[in-house]
Amino acid sequence: MDCINDIPSLRAQIAHWRAQGERVALVPTMGNLHAGHLSLIGEARRHAQRVVASIFVNPLQFGPGEDFAAYPRTLAEDRERLGAAGCDLLFAPGVETLYPHGQEGHTRVEVPGLSDLLCGASRPGHFVGVATVVCKLLNLVQPDVALFGEKDYQQLLVIRRMVEDLALPVEIVGVPTVREPDGLAMSSRNGYLTPAERAQAPALYHALCAAAQSVRDGGEVASVERTAREALAAAGLEPDYVQVCAARTLAPASPEDRERVILAAARLGRARLIDNVNV
Ligand code: PAF
Repeated sequence: MDCINDIPSLRAQIAHWRAQGERVALVPTMGNLHAGHLSLIGEARRHAQRVVASIFVNPLQFGPGEDFAAYPRTLAEDRERLGAAGCDLLFAPGVETLYPHGQEGHTRVEVPGLSDLLCGASRPGHFVGVATVVCKLLNLVQPDVALFGEKDYQQLLVIRRMVEDLALPVEIVGVPTVREPDGLAMSSRNGYLTPAERAQAPALYHALCAAAQSVRDGGEVASVERTAREALAAAGLEPDYVQVCAARTLAPASPEDRERVILAAARLGRARLIDNVNV
């Protein structure tokens, strides 16, 4: 599998495939790949003849004091894994390639409303950074389809809305969360957990599953959310939010909403864990 770092070579390779009439899929990542990422590659293969993965630890989506510097960078191992998973091309640009005028001077893409809730409230500017880099990657690769994990549910909705609002000619596919045997959603940030914290971490998924069952059983939303936050605190996690939401808008769920999702975020040691389940 080839690895390309510059834009002209990327465009030339994509143009070559296009000239052969091949469909192209894009899987954007920040690297430190795990089975969740590899399931995105596997799904991408079902949608297109050619699969491009990108690895770029995007400084624009990290706030001051967040883990940009510490974020694990494992390019050599990632390249091996991508090749073995059937990826055709890795695009791994440097910061100066994607932000040639510097980060401050770069044009930004903002999806208002959706970007300000939940994780956006705790991480101001995060989704502007995500939307900006994903928009740029979509413009560079011009894929037929791009795939994102459902673990980052709010991110998936922000990207879908951006694509719709800007009329970008790409299909966005969400891929189910891949979990460890004990239920913990796979995430590069799980590597920050100590062994003791790793044993506590599945409490997030278990609290969400219990909350989903309570909602199905007719539990009152505010009380279900409070019970879940208490369960997280009892397990030693520091809850940021637990919210039952309308699945398409992330507005607080009302009894009329047919599709609902419960999202949660919690701190555990150095890690900020997020997860969600459908009701
Ligand atoms: O989910 C991620 O890994 C990142 O937010 C993404 C979509 C690659 C943008 O940097």
